[in-house]
Amino acid sequence: MPDFNSIISTIHSQLDASADRGSVATYIPELAGVDEKNFGIYLNCISGESHKIGAWNKPFSIQSISKVLSLAQAFSLVGDSIWKRVDVEPSGNPFNHLSLLELENGIPRNPLINAGALVIADILVSQLDNPKEDFLDYVRNLTNDFSIQFNTKVALSEKSTGFRNYAAANLLKSFGNLNNDVETVLDFYFHQCSLEMNCEQLSNAFYFLANRGKCMRDHAFLNESQVKRINALMLTCGFYDEAGEFAFEVGLPGKSGVGGGIIALLPNQFTIATWSPGLNEKGNSHLGMQALEKFTTATQLSIF
Ligand code: DON
Repeated sequence: MPDFNSIISTIHSQLDASADRGSVATYIPELAGVDEKNFGIYLNCISGESHKIGAWNKPFSIQSISKVLSLAQAFSLVGDSIWKRVDVEPSGNPFNHLSLLELENGIPRNPLINAGALVIADILVSQLDNPKEDFLDYVRNLTNDFSIQFNTKVALSEKSTGFRNYAAANLLKSFGNLNNDVETVLDFYFHQCSLEMNCEQLSNAFYFLANRGKCMRDHAFLNESQVKRINALMLTCGFYDEAGEFAFEVGLPGKSGVGGGIIALLPNQFTIATWSPGLNEKGNSHLGMQALEKFTTATQLSIF
C-alpha cells in the first residue's frame, strides 16, 4: 500500500504554497466571501483507514456535488424511467448552458448539468412527501451524520441571482419536461445545492459509490448496476467541459461544485474529497484538480 499520509501531506504543502489559487465564485453572492486560503483533503479507504490534512473539517457549500446525491435518490425511487427524461451524454459545455437544451427539445444531455439536475429535482418533488426534508434525511442517512444541514442563506442568495436556472426551468417546462411548477422545483434545487459538508462528511456520503451501493453502515442504497451507471456519469460528465481533462489528468469518476469541493472515488478502494474555494476558468477547484492529479500519479491508483 502507498504511504497515503506522506503523499497527501506532501501534496497539501506543495499546493498550499501556490500563488495562483483560482478565484472564488461570485455569481452566488453568499459564496463570494469564502476565504480562498482554505484547503483540505480527506481520504476514506474502504479498508477502514482514513487520512486527512488541512481544512478537512470545515463545512463548505457542496453545490453541484449534490446533483449526484439527488440522482442516486431519484434512481432508487423510479429506476431506469429517468433516462426517458434525461440523456447520458457529456455536453462539452459549461454547467449552465442552454443552447443544447433548446436544440434537443428539452431533454438535457445528462443529469449533472444544471438542466438535467432540474429534471431530477422535478422527479424528487413528485416522488417525495416532503421533498426538501426527505432529501436531507436521505443524505443524512447515507452519511450517517444527522448534523448535516441546508444553508438557507446560500439557497436564498442563489435564488436572488439564479436567472439562468430560471431560464433552464422555464425552457424545460415549455418542452413538457417539468411536471411541477418552476418555483417549487427551483426552491428544491437551490436548497439541495446549499447543503453544507466538510471533506470527511463528503467522503462518507460518497462511500456507497465506491462500495457497490452500500454505505459505511453496510446498508444498500443502490444496486451494483445502478452504481456502475452513476460512476460512469461522473467520469464522463462530472466536470462539464473539463470532464475530458479530469479523466486525462486524474482518471477517476468525480464531481465538482462551485463551492470549491471535489469528490472522486476508485471503486472498491477509496473516496477522496478535496476543498479549496478558488476555481479555475471552467468553474472547478483550481487546487483540488491539481491535488487529485498528483494523488493518482503518486499512488498509481486510478481506473486506468
Ligand atoms: O446552479 C448553479 O449554478 C449552482 N447551484 C451549482 C453550480 C455548480 O456547482 C457547478 N459546478 N462546478
